[in-house]
Amino acid sequence: MRIIVAGAGGQLGRELVEILSADDVHAFDHRALDIADEASVLSTIGQLRPNWIINAAAFNDVDGAEAAERAAFRANAEGPANLARAAASIDAALIHVSTDYVFDGRKGSAYTEDDVPNPLSVYGRSKYEGERRVLESKARVCVLRTAWLYGRHGKNFVKAIRAAAGEGRPLKVVADQVGSPTAVADFAQAIARLMQTPARGLFHVVNAGACSREEFARAIVRGAVQVLPITSAQAGRAAPRPENSSLISARWSALGLRPLRPWQAALDAFLDGET
Ligand SMILES: NC(=O)c1ccc[n+]([C@@H]2O[C@H](COP(=O)([O-])OP(=O)(O)OC[C@H]3O[C@@H](n4cnc5c(N)ncnc54)[C@H](OP(=O)(O)O)[C@@H]3O)[C@@H](O)[C@H]2O)c1
Repeated sequence: MRIIVAGAGGQLGRELVEILSADDVHAFDHRALDIADEASVLSTIGQLRPNWIINAAAFNDVDGAEAAERAAFRANAEGPANLARAAASIDAALIHVSTDYVFDGRKGSAYTEDDVPNPLSVYGRSKYEGERRVLESKARVCVLRTAWLYGRHGKNFVKAIRAAAGEGRPLKVVADQVGSPTAVADFAQAIARLMQTPARGLFHVVNAGACSREEFARAIVRGAVQVLPITSAQAGRAAPRPENSSLISARWSALGLRPLRPWQAALDAFLDGET
């Protein structure tokens, strides 16, 4: 299979390129392909004629997006629309990645694919617009919402907490945000499995279960330092975040696919260097 990975320099992109290495993978980082540049996208995809296009590119700075709305919509809405247009033009299938931050977090329990988004932040709105444009396109598409990604590559919460814990002082972590921590290695494997199925449409793909940021931090530091709860208001971040954006999939098992393992097992495997 010929596969194009856009955003190949990011946390997910790098993991995907490794996992799919048995295939004919063409990896494009931001410098090699700006997905918001329609002409470049159409000509690159038109020349390579892949069977699959995977979009791992995003303006992913949730707080930074509040003051950079134009750039966020360019990467997170126009970019995916360009990829969908290019996919449709050569009948390739597109996998596009989205986020739990399309939800407002007020449901009080895990969100399924049937729940209606209501993003709170610029980042969330730009990602929701990207989903809609991809799903309304003429391409064969899968939109995968995931959450709280961490892995070996790039910046993420697990690395930040471990680095802060290394200084030996107590950590203050928000206790009023609940979500679904997901190992990027498990998510990338799930994408590879999905590519073996005829699946189309919208799916939630996360490690099973949910926890608060504070509980997540406790599991990361394994008792090495104290973790003290604070509120989102005390954390004072630029972008509002949902209170409970945990995800569950009503559609994944209907495809005959096994749910991803619980978040605690995935985190332990990562901390023990197994993934
Ligand atoms: N990280 C999370 O916790 C999380 C949670 C939920 C969903 N997601 C979604 O998961 C996907 C992967 O996220 P990630 O954690 O791998 O993010 P990441 O590490 O920030 O990677 C995103 C990559 O996209 C590139 N990029 C930005 N704008 C681009 C453009 N216009 N054209 C091409 N490439 C561009 C970035 O390059 P530069 O850095 O050079 O700009 C970066 O290498 C994204 O769709 C994100 O929204 C992530």
